[in-house]
Amino acid sequence: MAAAQVHMCQTIFPAHTNYRGELSAGQLLKWIDTTACLAAEKHAGMPCVTASVDDIQFEETARVGQIISINAKVNRAFTTSMEVGVKVTLQDPLTTFQKLICVAFSTYVAKPVHNGKVDLKPVEFVTAQDSLEHTLAAERRKIRLDHERVCKNLVEECGMNSEQVCNQGEGAISTDLTHVQSTELVLPPHANHQGNTFGGQIMAWMETVAVISASRLCRLHPTLKSVDMFKFRGPSTVGDRLVFNAIVNNTFQKSIEVGVRVEAFNCEEWAKGQARHINSAFLIFNAVNEHGELITFPRVKSITKDGLRRYHGAIARKKIRLARKYILLKQENNCTLDFWDRGNQADKIESNVTALTVLAAKPGWEMISTSLDYIKMFTLEETDALSVKVEMQVRISSELAFSLLSDFRHHVHWVKHYSTCKVIQNVTEEDKIYHITSISINGNKPDDFLILVSQRKPCKTGDPYIIAVRSVALTSVPSSENYCRREIQCAGFLIYPDGNSSFVSYCIQGTPGVMPYVAATLDGSSKSIEDTASGCIHFLELQSSTMDCI
Ligand code: COA
Ligand code: ADP
Repeated sequence: MAAAQVHMCQTIFPAHTNYRGELSAGQLLKWIDTTACLAAEKHAGMPCVTASVDDIQFEETARVGQIISINAKVNRAFTTSMEVGVKVTLQDPLTTFQKLICVAFSTYVAKPVHNGKVDLKPVEFVTAQDSLEHTLAAERRKIRLDHERVCKNLVEECGMNSEQVCNQGEGAISTDLTHVQSTELVLPPHANHQGNTFGGQIMAWMETVAVISASRLCRLHPTLKSVDMFKFRGPSTVGDRLVFNAIVNNTFQKSIEVGVRVEAFNCEEWAKGQARHINSAFLIFNAVNEHGELITFPRVKSITKDGLRRYHGAIARKKIRLARKYILLKQENNCTLDFWDRGNQADKIESNVTALTVLAAKPGWEMISTSLDYIKMFTLEETDALSVKVEMQVRISSELAFSLLSDFRHHVHWVKHYSTCKVIQNVTEEDKIYHITSISINGNKPDDFLILVSQRKPCKTGDPYIIAVRSVALTSVPSSENYCRREIQCAGFLIYPDGNSSFVSYCIQGTPGVMPYVAATLDGSSKSIEDTASGCIHFLELQSSTMDCI
């Protein structure tokens, strides 16, 4: 049968909005869950419950008088569960204005009225888009079912250096003042016809307490930007008392993570204090000042053991969120470069150096890893790109670091996935084109890169040494069947003198060509970036000591 679909339209009234007259995210989550659940039930032909909701990112806010349009479609049925894709758009009745608010993927489990397990019929796909969603649904399911394990591993790993990281120094505010508790009684309007509490209702209550918690830190009204993937661990029904506990776990520059734990009690459990843990969620907010600018949140600290653990948990979740977002973008790696010729060489060289300088200087880099003293990792999220920066402290002079790093043939010694590197063209003394091949990983076709490397010494004191990298296309080295040609839009090193040492910063713009390398590090499945940085430091310091001996 063709995919079950349900549409819902809602006009936004004042009762749906927050103090700014904007649609409250909690209300939107309720509508999303209701629409998606109805689509799941349409496919299953029986009641369904929300099992989990993947990360949701809110792109737009909606105001009173505007119209919300929600489209939910069952992408795939597994055995007892189904993935439902939801698209929310915003329309203005007075204009032709239409915008995407968010895309969400939720999983519903079919619950036959007389218990027992069902085997759901498959969803048949009609269009190419249906077929693509069907394939992607299986990939998303893998990520979702593995989420708890990945999260646990990364949290443990991030927590290893807890003493060092939580010592945030002066100005850090204690998270204790952000603790909020709230209790709700589940009544019939909060539940479906079976008496099961709506997942969306629980999400809406969570949002309410999380907003209060976040506002205690920033003293502004925060806006929900995204919801981390979460799972409904166990059912709740009419008559349950739900206790919500929220606290700020960590702040990043322009965002803040609030965690909420929900426990349910029926009347008897309530008297005995026997809680059922039904859900934990992590919500990300930002806040704007009176000029409409995003504020920078103060650093936070926690002195309790749980607080420290959660502080590290927030860093781990941020990494996972970023990795998931960009893995799932699934963009094709089409080579779109102009060919390198005499007419455009000067422009390409110039823009190579400028692009790196601009990327490194952009505001908004957020530290995501401090597992080692001498290596720090940062990310920068822009509309559709994720860039990564690694800062390293190296005990060699900046001049020597520059000379060693600017010759990419040395890089095969420490970049483990590089196989060969040769100079294809000496364009000028300071600009060379290299062809780099990688090793094959997991039996996949190896990658190759054709890059322009531009090296520049500082013009004046205080400027860094620059080694800028970008891909080029050469007719003499076309992409071959043996390699997957990857593209680097902007990457490179900036090297600053620091006494007898150097401070080396490596930036790379996360285009589809490099995302496989970056994402694996972010979600903790590989340590490739940290390992490569350690290898680089080791190589540079070894070369320096060898030269000293000579
Ligand atoms: N995300 C997506 N699907 C999940 C999941 C998750 N985090 N955890 C389990 N599932 C899927 C399983 O893959 C399985 O699907 P399949 O049969 O298609 O392979 C299905 O849920 C049942 O899994 P199973 O292992 O048999 O059951 P469980 O003991 O893990 O229970 C729930 C899963 C969702 C039924 C159970 O946790 C529950 O009842 N949660 C509360 C649901 C609810 O009431 N929600 C409304 C708000 S309270
Ligand atoms: P964890 O503590 O590992 O994050 P929990 O499921 O216990 O996992 O809690 C989820 C989130 O809910 C926590 O990260 C925290 O932000 C919040 N939270 C949990 N318990 C409390 C509490 N007693 N008071 C305030 N907030 C809490």
